[in-house]
Amino acid sequence: MVKHTATSVVTIERYIIEQERLYPDAPGELSGLLYDIALAAKMIANKVRMAGLADIIGATENENVQGEIQQKLDVLANDMIIKALDHSGRLCAMASEEEPDIIQIPDNFRCGKYCLLFDPLDGSSNIDVNVPVGTIFSVVLKITRGARGEMEDMLQPGRRQVAAGYVIYGSSTMMVYTTGQGVHGFTLDPQIGEFLLSHPNIRIPERGRYLSVNDSYEQVWEEDVRALMRRYRGLDGVRDPMSVRYVGSLVADFHRNLLGGGLFAYPANEKNPRGKLRLLYEANPLAFIVEQAGGLASNGSIRILDVEPTELHQRTPLFIGSKSDVMMADRMLAAPVLAEQA
Ligand code: AHG
Ligand code: MN
Ligand code: MN
Repeated sequence: MVKHTATSVVTIERYIIEQERLYPDAPGELSGLLYDIALAAKMIANKVRMAGLADIIGATENENVQGEIQQKLDVLANDMIIKALDHSGRLCAMASEEEPDIIQIPDNFRCGKYCLLFDPLDGSSNIDVNVPVGTIFSVVLKITRGARGEMEDMLQPGRRQVAAGYVIYGSSTMMVYTTGQGVHGFTLDPQIGEFLLSHPNIRIPERGRYLSVNDSYEQVWEEDVRALMRRYRGLDGVRDPMSVRYVGSLVADFHRNLLGGGLFAYPANEKNPRGKLRLLYEANPLAFIVEQAGGLASNGSIRILDVEPTELHQRTPLFIGSKSDVMMADRMLAAPVLAEQA
């Protein structure tokens, strides 16, 4: 890693270029792709900042504009990412939480060798109450032979990701990403419109302070999940109690736990037997990041990055964060037969 002094001004562009020089075998196209994503993030941040003003602006401006401004923000974010990336020549296809099928690159643009999978606006139900939302992305290499991306390219296990990241639109806007050489965070300086390196080489504490879980599902959890949550909260006397923090935006909950240590859990329940969160757009990219930062991610029985996807919008239970806290979930949720063998 290139060392920077406290006074260095390192834009995301400079950082990406320096990383590229350090790893000459790494394809330059990936750097370009990350830079395009950073551009899309700035455009989305700009819209998110205006969220509460959409009605006011609509009333004072040309009525024709109103419909566009009031378009739901997750649709806007989805369109912005597609438009910022479809012509770059770096992607062979995309997949989004907001689109039922694979998004093909238009015929008039060149296809590249990467696939981008994304959740354009995570936690969007929080927009109306001014709570942080985010964008999550995952990049994999195309494995099929044709020019265009196919379903097989999208359905690769998370361990094959070559890059992943998220953007959090919070009290400031931050972009955090990994290409497999640690996790790096950049904060958007709104005055100059640049992401600046603010959190080099992020490491998640081994053991967490915070537990992020929606425990209103307690009634519909399996008994082993209930016992696990009691343990995290110190109710069975085995460990010190964790403090509960739940925003309801995965990106915000994950980001806090990544920096301060903690565990985010969204277990399966009676109503959502496969969990709620999406493997390809949410669990996989955050799992790649957390492992690069020294943490873990599991579905309760195996590592998230080893789950073999079978469908685009596949859901998964998720336990992600500080290593020892995720290991506790694996131990307590392991099928009895596995536990006996251990
Ligand atoms: P999205 O807004 O992309 O659909 O994701 C919402 C997700 C995630 O951000 C959050 O952790 C979770 O939904 C909250 O679900 P509950 O309201 O069931 O706790
Ligand atoms: Mn989401
Ligand atoms: Mn979403």
